[in-house]
Amino acid sequence: MIDPNMKFIVANWKMNGLITDSKTLMQEIVLQANSFPETNRVIICPPATLISNVQKQVKATKILVGGQDCHSEEKGAFTGNVSAVQLRDLGCEYVILGHSERRGYEEESNELVAKKAEAAHNAYLKTIICVGEKLDEKKHSLAVVEKQVEESLPVSADRTNTMIAYEPVWAIGSGEIPTTEEIETVHAHIFETLERLGKSGVPILYGGSVKASNTEEILATPYVSGVLVGGASLKAPDFCAIARTKIEYSY
Ligand code: PGA
Repeated sequence: MIDPNMKFIVANWKMNGLITDSKTLMQEIVLQANSFPETNRVIICPPATLISNVQKQVKATKILVGGQDCHSEEKGAFTGNVSAVQLRDLGCEYVILGHSERRGYEEESNELVAKKAEAAHNAYLKTIICVGEKLDEKKHSLAVVEKQVEESLPVSADRTNTMIAYEPVWAIGSGEIPTTEEIETVHAHIFETLERLGKSGVPILYGGSVKASNTEEILATPYVSGVLVGGASLKAPDFCAIARTKIEYSY
């Protein structure tokens, strides 16, 4: 069961890191893990090659580990892919799905994301399903994310096994970030869409150019239950500062 008062601090390392540097990065994060508030749930999503090592390093902490994608089938002739069951076998509790880089470079559709999410739920993984408008869709962002939410969540998705990450594609890795009013508007719309779909209580995270200096403001924004952090999750001091952020007022 996902605690509605939790703030989720999710690190998305993307395709970065070799064994040695990821060990150093995790050592520094683990050393500081005691300073993260109890109400922050920290989840590290390394590339598949590093999951096993990261999993070993976080064993004595409350930090959890997730994958960055999974296949929609449990097993079989799918060269180069990783299944949800295999992620679970490595000790993962979460998996990011439908990230804009996969929707873009790998041409993943909402329907495929929903199938992957169903496979993940069948493997007892919790899903972090990404949605977000591209720059040229900015004027229609509410309609774009509404359709993505409607079509990317399988029947099995509910508040116990699913989170949405709203990541405007133009804000990813760009240093550009929507105003907190804009974030609140889109998050409120996702919130209402989830209610209408009978999936109330699914936490909604924000992602895109999150850094230590803007985390507090973002986390204090109504309807925001956490952050998905890319670039800033690769530097221990930056990521630890984000993970230490404590919000007194929770919406
Ligand atoms: P960023 O990436 O923090 O580097 O903008 C976020 C993401 O792609 O999840």
